[in-house]
Amino acid sequence: MTSFANHGNSDSVRLAPRPGSYRIHTCQLGPMDNFIYLIEDVESSRGAVVDPAWDVPAILDLATAQGIQITDILLTHSHHDHINGVAGILDATDAQVHLLKAEADFYGHNLPQPALHHGGDILRLGKTPIEFLHTPGHTPGSACYRVEDDLIAGDTLFVFGCGRCDLPGGDPKQMYDSLRKLRENLPWYLRLLPGHDYGVKPTSTLQEQAECNPFMRIHDLGRFIRYRMHDHDQVRHPPYAPECD
Ligand SMILES: [Fe+2]
Repeated sequence: MTSFANHGNSDSVRLAPRPGSYRIHTCQLGPMDNFIYLIEDVESSRGAVVDPAWDVPAILDLATAQGIQITDILLTHSHHDHINGVAGILDATDAQVHLLKAEADFYGHNLPQPALHHGGDILRLGKTPIEFLHTPGHTPGSACYRVEDDLIAGDTLFVFGCGRCDLPGGDPKQMYDSLRKLRENLPWYLRLLPGHDYGVKPTSTLQEQAECNPFMRIHDLGRFIRYRMHDHDQVRHPPYAPECD
């Protein structure tokens, strides 16, 4: 598995676009409360839509209203509720689809071939760098995307929750390792932008999750696997609340 760069929980590696050089717009769409994010590089007006699904006209209307040209589609993974708008976006734009190579076998073969990436790759959206982080567990090729101060986490990390690991390709040991790497290798000031609105609020910080998300507070693999695969769903239901000391 490709591990992502060690950012040392400090500013040792800053991708560093200029302050204000990008914006992230959010749509909440569909019956599963998916969050669809539109990353805008302000200078070029280029946009990358993350996990387009459910209501393509709403996504396209947002881009038009903001004067954004969608040039890229970034997928956190290939589950239906995250990709069912890909074809519609491709019908309306010349966007390039991006996906981690480890997820390629799960991606719909009726869609155009995506650009396949590895963890650590950087996509430049104009002058805004977007880093691919490989965070398997929910699926083998699950990705998070880091854009300077933001972490778009797909179904890897939710606000006070994490993605399930009992679907095809899911693996709770990999999820444990992925959450540990997020906690240990990324700066805690990052804003968490999850793939679903399953928490008591739509966004958080990595620090708040490290301190109050029960999945990030278990430091024993066996306990984590039991909790993710058995105990959690018996005792907790959305909207997930913080569990702090
Ligand atoms: Fe999913």
